Amino acid sequence: MTRLAGKTAIITGSARGIGRAFAERYVAEGARVVIADINLEAASKTAAEIGEGAIALPIDVTNQDSIEMCVREAVTQLGGIDILINNAAIFTAAPIDEITRNDYDKVFAINVSGTLFTMQAVARHMIERGQGGKIINMASQAGRRGESLVAVYCASKAAVISLTQSAGLNLIQHGINVNAIAPGVVDGEHWDGVDAFFAKYENKAPGQKKKEVGEAVPFGRMGTAEDLTGMAVFLASDDAEYVVAQTYNVDGGNWMS
Ligand SMILES: NC(=O)c1ccc[n+]([C@@H]2O[C@H](COP(=O)([O-])OP(=O)(O)OC[C@H]3O[C@@H](n4cnc5c(N)ncnc54)[C@H](O)[C@@H]3O)[C@@H](O)[C@H]2O)c1
Repeated sequence: MTRLAGKTAIITGSARGIGRAFAERYVAEGARVVIADINLEAASKTAAEIGEGAIALPIDVTNQDSIEMCVREAVTQLGGIDILINNAAIFTAAPIDEITRNDYDKVFAINVSGTLFTMQAVARHMIERGQGGKIINMASQAGRRGESLVAVYCASKAAVISLTQSAGLNLIQHGINVNAIAPGVVDGEHWDGVDAFFAKYENKAPGQKKKEVGEAVPFGRMGTAEDLTGMAVFLASDDAEYVVAQTYNVDGGNWMS
């Protein structure tokens, strides 16, 4: 298991959840990884638990100075960046007549601007370094079609798919492959929050929505963070050299495109 031997990666939002699983798998595959998260305490704990191969750095993907500082420090500590996973994101849900501008701005600042400007900062480094690179953006099945109560998050993930296409087309001339992963429903703390929104708006008991979405997956259950790591390794590896501007569904069969 050393498909990423000698590679270095920044993974945003990797203090917990899917990002953490990516970091664990990347280190197991021989990479050195920056656990970059707005929650530095949690990121430091995660890096310590993963052990050698993982370091923690603070990043707030809504803040340009913070993005640039994180990338600079990662380059200094690891000697260059080969891989970026734009994983940090937040979820929100509300019917159209209850969406607040504040919620919209927050979701777009993290999920969309955060993805774009972190991608830009790392791409600038990769271009200057001249060794190409791999960038993976975390989209979602929510970006494939709208959902009645999830307008803002769905729109933000559709934007991530679109940004992946444009950046993929623009950056391949520098040997930088930009692609995205669209998970379906993935168990973890994030989905506990999603479940709470549906409990409120669909008048469901806590845990009921989670049970329903799991049963509806063609594979027969919700995904786990570990279900996604194989695609994240593939897209970061030399095997993905000819893969450009794509979004891959890893969702147990929920969406076909
Ligand atoms: N869990 C799912 O069902 C699911 C489904 C589809 C897509 N996704 C996507 O996968 C990715 C990871 O999801 P998850 O379930 O692990 O989420 P999560 O909520 O468990 O983790 C998100 C991480 O991002 C960090 N973060 C939040 N704001 C930040 C900021 N401004 N700057 C830097 N870090 C910040 C948080 O501290 C946290 O560690 C997200 O992009 C999410 O939209 C998740």
